[in-house]
Amino acid sequence: MDGLEPLKKKYLDGIMAASDESALEDLRLTAVGKKGEVALKMRELGKMTPEERQVAGPALNALKDEINSALAARKAALGDAALEERLRTEWLDVTLAGRPARQGTIHPVSQVSEEVTAIFADMGFSVAEGPQVESDWFNFDALNIPPEHPTRTEMDTFYMHRAEGDDRPPHVLRTHTSPVQIRHMQEFGAPCRIIAPGRVYRADYDQTHTPMFHQVEGLALGTDLSMANLKWVLEEFFSAFFGIKVKTRFRASHFPFTEPSAEVDIQCSWVNGQLRIGEGDGWMEVLGSGMVHPKVLAAGGVDSDAFQGFAFGMGIDRIAMLKYGIPDLRAFFDSDLRWLRHYGFSTLDQPNLHGGLNR
Ligand code: DAH
Repeated sequence: MDGLEPLKKKYLDGIMAASDESALEDLRLTAVGKKGEVALKMRELGKMTPEERQVAGPALNALKDEINSALAARKAALGDAALEERLRTEWLDVTLAGRPARQGTIHPVSQVSEEVTAIFADMGFSVAEGPQVESDWFNFDALNIPPEHPTRTEMDTFYMHRAEGDDRPPHVLRTHTSPVQIRHMQEFGAPCRIIAPGRVYRADYDQTHTPMFHQVEGLALGTDLSMANLKWVLEEFFSAFFGIKVKTRFRASHFPFTEPSAEVDIQCSWVNGQLRIGEGDGWMEVLGSGMVHPKVLAAGGVDSDAFQGFAFGMGIDRIAMLKYGIPDLRAFFDSDLRWLRHYGFSTLDQPNLHGGLNR
């Protein structure tokens, strides 16, 4: 058959020179595709004599095989080259340092709650909790605050809405952590030593008041407890918390749930407009406290002839502001990232008595 040699040379050269897979595919179609040149030649076989066909048939088949294997070989070679190229250009330096990711911070309220808990835990107090939606009996009556008592309005209480016909007892957003005292006494009785940190709510908003804020309640009951123990515990606490020996001053006061009651000031001074805790002859009010009223013990199911004790309540946000020099309470709850980054704490900065809180 004529012309097979030039055909073979044309395609084998073309295949060797093809620079990518699509050029190879074009060559495959024009050479050995259904309507390619080899197929056209095959059609000529019909017009040949049997003798001619016996020579031309195998020659055409051999050509077809040769082109197909050249195509396969070139395709493999191109694939290897492409892989080589990727390996050469797409390398990655796994020894490079990672890009720093922004870390969140611990909120001052969380940090200070942990600090308070660590210090009181060291004096044998455990942590108790109660609900934030509280019945008005636990929030008021059980704490010796009868319905007509002015405290109920003074505390700017949020009352829960009640649908008509709802005969469940009235509920409030707890205005203080003191109801946890009652719940704890009812469940565990006396003696006891607990603190109860948590959220409380009052309808009030200015530089030092937000409708939600945090308190920590303290309650210690025993058979031989007095105001002297209260004073020692508080001085011990403030000294550990502020990291300097802090004196306290007790001022006679009145709370329905304690008798006698005292407001407690801590020693401080103002130097050039700057507050210094634990020095000087100024005083700053920080909490309310007293000896638990017998009626409160009774509401908690504790025998007031056998047990007595002290209680106190203070603002967590407030002592956080004092310790860390934070001027405005409202910013605590704005979720402003700049504020959180500035006043927040590292997750590694775990409060404990070996790491800066000294007792
Ligand atoms: N519950 C009071 C308040 O919210 C604080 C307080 C005062 C708590 C005296 C006490 C206490 O346990 O004895 O203002």
